[in-house]
Amino acid sequence: MDGDKTEVVAILGAGAWGLSTALHLIDAGYTNVTVFDQASEVPSPYSGAYDLNKIVRAEYEDEFYTELALEAINRWRTPFWGWNFHQVGYVVATSSAAPAKAVDHLEAALSSIKDHPVFAPGISSLNKSEDFKKIYWQFSGPMTGFKGYLNRLAGYAHSSNAMADLHRYLVSRGVKFILGAQEGKAVKLLYNTSNPSERRCTRFQVASGRVHQARRTIVCVGAYAATLIPEMGSFVIAKCWSVAHVQLTERECDYLRGIPVLNVRDLGFFFEPDPATRLLKLCPLGAGYINSDANTGLSLPPSGSQRAPKDYIPASDEKKLRRLLKETLPQLADRPFVDQRLCWFSDTSDSEYCVDFVPDTGGSLIVLSGDSGHGFKMMPIVGEWVLKLLRDGRQVRPRRQFRQTQKRDADWGNDVSWRIGTTKEIREVVEEQDRMVKARL
Ligand SMILES: Cc1cc2nc3c(=O)[nH]c(=O)nc-3n(C[C@H](O)[C@H](O)[C@H](O)COP(=O)(O)OP(=O)(O)OC[C@H]3O[C@@H](n4cnc5c(N)ncnc54)[C@H](O)[C@@H]3O)c2cc1C
Ligand SMILES: *[C@@H]1O[C@H](CO)[C@@H](O)[C@H](O)[C@H]1NC(C)=O
Ligand SMILES: *[C@@H]1O[C@H](CO)[C@@H](O)[C@H](O)[C@H]1NC(C)=O
Ligand SMILES: *[C@@H]1O[C@H](CO)[C@@H](O)[C@H](O)[C@H]1NC(C)=O
Repeated sequence: MDGDKTEVVAILGAGAWGLSTALHLIDAGYTNVTVFDQASEVPSPYSGAYDLNKIVRAEYEDEFYTELALEAINRWRTPFWGWNFHQVGYVVATSSAAPAKAVDHLEAALSSIKDHPVFAPGISSLNKSEDFKKIYWQFSGPMTGFKGYLNRLAGYAHSSNAMADLHRYLVSRGVKFILGAQEGKAVKLLYNTSNPSERRCTRFQVASGRVHQARRTIVCVGAYAATLIPEMGSFVIAKCWSVAHVQLTERECDYLRGIPVLNVRDLGFFFEPDPATRLLKLCPLGAGYINSDANTGLSLPPSGSQRAPKDYIPASDEKKLRRLLKETLPQLADRPFVDQRLCWFSDTSDSEYCVDFVPDTGGSLIVLSGDSGHGFKMMPIVGEWVLKLLRDGRQVRPRRQFRQTQKRDADWGNDVSWRIGTTKEIREVVEEQDRMVKARL
């Protein structure tokens, strides 16, 4: 089925996946595409990709995602996307203190690519700290007990710039953007229930009260999915990780230029410094934080008056990052962190994406969610999955299907092999910080 390309399409959310969707629709000939976002500009500070950089790696333990990521990397290496892609290579490691789960994950990731015809020539295993020192000759830290590998067919992308560039391009192609807390923020989907066998989403309301009509409404609001489609709260939850930066001088920045992304599974990861801001970005690794509402059971990013960490990251995360720096760049280990924040994404229990029609809506409502914190790298190809969905009329890939029900239990999501530790509530983080501040007084 090849649909009517003049039909009115509304994309809610101008993050990594919403922008990609707009691009592929317009390339396929759709002529009436409007993108809404609650932020007043793109990139949106509410986007999980509002950031200097994201890892673009291709190794997954599972072939399904490896092949998708390879396809995405091939796209990143084209003139259209290449401005923001930096193929500096990607080192995955464990430190001497790594728990068994981290070591197992590393071995599984390596075995998924070491014999893969595309990757094999670019893989080197790194068996001891001397091997790391050859690659990271700038690092004076001991890298005690580090083990891992380098994959040259990987690197990172400047995620904020990729979104800014694509936004500009889409505007030039005639995609309409409606932005801002009043006119751009969708607050309610409206359904026509006159046909008892379906509830067709025909309109939606934005914060100003204005109502828009669309034949297709495509919800790409990341961590906020359950605000518009509450039933999604049973299988996607808003989760966050910490982000912190070290401010470097121009000379320090030049010195570190070109280093591969370093991901130490039991500590965290960092990237070559951003030349424009001279910031070295760091992310601790762990199971993340959620924000459950006691009444609804839903986890959503904090809103309004709710207390949430601002200008600091959880103490345990800071400890991990300082250890990571001591092992690698000890001269930076005691520098203050700047621009510290929590970054929200949409998590599923098994880390599978959801790209599907919402059931029984007559094809009117599509949702893209469950990026599970590994969806940015797919930005060049996500919109193709939406086109395929429109062509097929239904989701044929079980791994991207909308899940009707799923029960949340205490271990939810902690099974995912690349997550270490257990998920905490934001509330606990705030209380912990209060106690620390009090103890210091
Ligand atoms: C700390 C951290 C590190 C990460 N690292 C990586 C990595 O290394 N590699 C990787 O591939 N991925 C990574 N990710 C994941 C990546 O950021 C996400 O997969 C990606 O941003 C998902 O895109 P999205 O469009 O679904 O959501 P988002 O990019 O979050 O965009 C959602 C958009 O919806 C808008 N919105 C929300 N509610 C509304 C509303 N009601 N009305 C209108 N607009 C609304 C928001 O303003 C935002 O622009 C990381 C995520 C985090 C948090
Ligand atoms: C898009 O559809 C709306 C509603 O039908 C219509 O008013 C508008 O003119 C259309 N825009 C384009 C570019 O076709
Ligand atoms: C690490 O060990 C593997 C075999 O276990 C070997 O093939 C590889 O060359 C070694 N790497 C280095 C950098 O010495
Ligand atoms: C709802 O759908 C019916 C047809 O199923 C149509 O006749 C009616 O006009 C629609 N109502 C609205 C408000 O769009």
